[in-house]
Amino acid sequence: MRTMKIGKSGIEASVVGIGAWAIGGDAMWGQSDDAESIRTIHRARELGVTLVDTAPAYGLGHSEEVVGKALAGRRGDYVLSTKCGLRWDIEEGGFMMARDGVRIVRNTRPERLAEEVEMSLRRLQTDYIDIYIVHWQELPEFPCPIADTMEYLLKLKEQGKIRAIGASNLSNEQFMEYVAAGQLDLIQEKFSMLDRGVGDRLFDLCDQHGVTFQAYSPLERGILSGKIKDASQVHMGMARSRVKWFLPENLPKIAALSEKWAPLCKKYGCTMTQLVIGWTAAQGNGSNVNVLCGARKLDQIEDNAKGGDVVPDAADIASMRRDAEEIA
Ligand SMILES: NC(=O)c1ccc[n+]([C@@H]2O[C@H](COP(=O)([O-])OP(=O)(O)OC[C@H]3O[C@@H](n4cnc5c(N)ncnc54)[C@H](OP(=O)(O)O)[C@@H]3O)[C@@H](O)[C@H]2O)c1
Repeated sequence: MRTMKIGKSGIEASVVGIGAWAIGGDAMWGQSDDAESIRTIHRARELGVTLVDTAPAYGLGHSEEVVGKALAGRRGDYVLSTKCGLRWDIEEGGFMMARDGVRIVRNTRPERLAEEVEMSLRRLQTDYIDIYIVHWQELPEFPCPIADTMEYLLKLKEQGKIRAIGASNLSNEQFMEYVAAGQLDLIQEKFSMLDRGVGDRLFDLCDQHGVTFQAYSPLERGILSGKIKDASQVHMGMARSRVKWFLPENLPKIAALSEKWAPLCKKYGCTMTQLVIGWTAAQGNGSNVNVLCGARKLDQIEDNAKGGDVVPDAADIASMRRDAEEIA
């Protein structure tokens, strides 16, 4: 597995990460098998995947607890990221959504982050977080200036509770506010072959400021594995129900891509999943994109991890982009 530097933090992590959103097993993704999730995280490490990403909001604490169990006794083998700024246990904040019987609010004020980091450390059974990411940004009805949030995150870094600072779901203006306030090492953004807009607007900024671009949902919630023939094969929870590629009229477009790319898969000796991961890792400046795929089953991590070693050539990258542009 190739590795890469995370911003200017000095942290070295696998190019492919494992995301533990579905491991939370909530209304977003449906029930997860915790024992299998833990085996999957362990197998990831054997396959060279060191980077594990979770968040308090995934399963309302459950994902962090499962990741904590998986990493117990082997914490040093992983680069662990978790997030802050989404709360379901307080009223105060900008309303984001209701799910699983709770109301989730955005609140990135320092006094709230001080509570959150301790709760995450406890659930994760660790005394440090490698990359601490602000999950979603303030809403106008509940202001939390980025400069204040950053000031507090920098203090956490000084205290050794976190090693690097990340932010997620950013506008370009918010990106600039972060870098003006301190060292931002990673941004985590929705980016896939079929949804390229965020990359087009943020890749150059990441390059200019030495920030790693971490692409989340690079498989469009599994559809870009090419294995999902119809929506009844998977749990259509909140995470998938809004993804248009699962609609019956769009599935044939994915099947056509899979057919078109069969010769490329043969050329690189890989699956469609791995080809897509290789394509994604080659974006940005060619060495600053980290590919964060979700996995909660052994066969998924076996498939995804090998994507970290697929390096399509420039002509194939360009032709795949054209193929993707034809449908999205
Ligand atoms: N910052 C944010 O706002 C944000 C938002 C979304 C995600 N994220 C992070 O990014 C990570 C990745 O996003 P994502 O989970 O949406 O990514 P994804 O990789 O596009 O989709 C993951 C899901 O696809 C299925 N899958 C994965 N590998 C597969 C394979 N090889 N073959 C067939 N199906 C496969 C699994 O679904 P089943 O488990 O149902 O089989 C898996 O849970 C998350 O886990 C989370 O850590 C962050």
